[in-house]
Amino acid sequence: MHLGFMICYNVAHMDSTRGEVAVIGAGPAGLFAAREISQAGYHVSLLNRDIKPGGLAEYGIYPDKKKMKDGLRGQFKQLLSTPNLAYYGNVSIGEGRDLELHELVDAGFDAILISIGAQYNRTLGLPGEDLVGVYHANDLVYTFTGMPPFAGRQLEIGKNAVVIGVGNVMTDISCYLIRELKTDSVTVVARRGPLEVKFEKKEFERIAANLDLDDLDLQLKEIEPLMRSLGQDPGMGRDIFYSCLPKADPKISDTHFYLRFLASPTRFINDGSGRLAGVELARNTLQVQGGEAKAVATGENFVINADTVVLAIGNRVDENFGLPVVRSEFARNPEPQYPVEDISYEAYDPQTKQPLPGIFLGGWARKASDGLVGKARKDGVNSARAVLQYLQNNEPKNQKSSDWLELKLMHLAHPVVRMEDLAVLQMKEEEKAVELGTVDYLFTSNGQMLAAMGLAEENPLQ
Ligand SMILES: Cc1cc2nc3c(=O)[nH]c(=O)nc-3n(C[C@H](O)[C@H](O)[C@H](O)COP(=O)(O)OP(=O)(O)OC[C@H]3O[C@@H](n4cnc5c(N)ncnc54)[C@H](O)[C@@H]3O)c2cc1C
Ligand SMILES: NC(=O)c1ccc[n+]([C@@H]2O[C@H](COP(=O)([O-])OP(=O)(O)OC[C@H]3O[C@@H](n4cnc5c(N)ncnc54)[C@H](OP(=O)(O)O)[C@@H]3O)[C@@H](O)[C@H]2O)c1
Repeated sequence: MHLGFMICYNVAHMDSTRGEVAVIGAGPAGLFAAREISQAGYHVSLLNRDIKPGGLAEYGIYPDKKKMKDGLRGQFKQLLSTPNLAYYGNVSIGEGRDLELHELVDAGFDAILISIGAQYNRTLGLPGEDLVGVYHANDLVYTFTGMPPFAGRQLEIGKNAVVIGVGNVMTDISCYLIRELKTDSVTVVARRGPLEVKFEKKEFERIAANLDLDDLDLQLKEIEPLMRSLGQDPGMGRDIFYSCLPKADPKISDTHFYLRFLASPTRFINDGSGRLAGVELARNTLQVQGGEAKAVATGENFVINADTVVLAIGNRVDENFGLPVVRSEFARNPEPQYPVEDISYEAYDPQTKQPLPGIFLGGWARKASDGLVGKARKDGVNSARAVLQYLQNNEPKNQKSSDWLELKLMHLAHPVVRMEDLAVLQMKEEEKAVELGTVDYLFTSNGQMLAAMGLAEENPLQ
């Protein structure tokens, strides 16, 4: 039905290009993929839910890493100026959203690359997970990084916090609790042992000065016999924490920082009024299975009193995007036709056991919570290479899909943000910083950003 429009409306499509590709999601993976594909001669329509590009590089990276963030922003700006690449921010794809995935398929794009990241935190599905005081990492991250619409939200964070998980997100969350909120205590809970932690040393150095070393020594001593029985070196376990002390950031709060190993939450305890009073944990032991130390419950439980729990246990993909999901991730073709470095980038329907032709996955949309920006970049580029192999093996559809898209976007109920608008937004934020005498200024709502770009009247409710 939309094909009629395509014949008479031809603005965005470049006749000189080899075909049309839609890239959905402009985080690091999508941005680098879009450049790779457009440089190979294809027109790329890059659709992004957020107004700004960058994804978690913009709204995940801890606010004090300003130099890193500014460097990445500069790089992303350059990527967006690649010829044959059209950026459309403030456009969400998915079931019941601005556009549905099947509409893009029907519009005849030669290929579609999905690089929308893994937007939601994993949940545990335990009793009490909905109590006031139980948060998932993104609740805090999006608040302290200023992501609309979460910026400025008042979270009820108390004085004694427990963080579940021992990856780098845990270090960011603990950094916020210890150095910004200056809570009385932070207790980090690992379901396995010291040698199975996933954080990086330089990240832990930000919070190491607050470690209660007497308590840490007790914990390490307790786990020693088990580590030895598994052939692990307890000295190496101790070194993970003690090696962070010489370069630790100076202590700026009195927060007591504890670690608990070999424990998995079993329920969150209600104080009787719907608020969190504590977390019950199962004590674990470790068993080596398939060469890896796995946590196994011993049957003994214990309780940590706490008014706040933050689950920092990794992310999962958007189940309402329009693609089949298997165990927190979009299903991938187990026998890829266009592998790159032996990795499958092809979307797949596990019910029919068939690949979804022309639909590819990259970055955290391919593998949730997988690594740093550099890894997402590499995965984006490799996903683009898979797309290019596919395009070389399939005739172009010549359907002028980007013209269809332009028209469709013109009829959305809200403004769409383009490359030239982003330049205005950057200028307005810089002007505001000068006016306020601050190092930085970031608008914290979509309404403010759209108004600053002259795309809408400012609506204080947005
Ligand atoms: C809390 C946190 C802190 C981190 N800190 C660091 C750090 O300090 N250093 C580092 O190197 N790495 C860091 N990382 C890792 C890094 O952010 C990721 O590796 C990287 O951002 C993943 O890139 P991506 O493009 O796959 O996904 P994302 O960055 O998540 O980008 C996804 C993009 O897709 C868009 N999108 C989502 N849904 C839709 C939709 N339905 N329709 C259209 N568009 C959509 C989003 O708007 C977003 O722009 C951090 C990660 C987290 C969670
Ligand atoms: N500053 C930075 O550079 C920075 C900041 C944030 C994130 N990142 C990157 O982003 C990626 C994601 O980080 P992340 O911390 O979310 O993930 P992660 O590194 O995978 O760590 C997740 C942690 O949660 C634990 N966990 C998972 N499921 C659990 C469960 N059901 N019960 C109890 N514990 C559970 C894991 O334990 P097991 O090991 O036992 O599974 C692990 O300790 C990583 O690559 C990270 O390096 C980087």
